[in-house]
Amino acid sequence: MGKLIFNDDEEVEIEENHPIKSQCEEIGIPFACEEGVCGTCVIEIEEGMDNLSEFTQEELDFLGEKDRERLACQCQIKNGNVKIKY
Ligand code: FES
Repeated sequence: MGKLIFNDDEEVEIEENHPIKSQCEEIGIPFACEEGVCGTCVIEIEEGMDNLSEFTQEELDFLGEKDRERLACQCQIKNGNVKIKY
């Protein structure tokens, strides 16, 4: 089981190897294209980057480098905690 932590101490559980998109939508992160093209859903990973799936080609194309930012429409959680900021 994975866990998304936001607003410092709020959290939501996500099944292992599942996309984080619907939970991100529920907590108010905006989405548009949902295909990794527009950048609307960009989030910052404060902790737990290793608990997310590998960067997709769309993320690398949009973000330019593997840093703290991810596109929420592209990520799956593996397990463990991922703390995000948006
Ligand atoms: S919604 Fe467009 S990049 Fe994620």
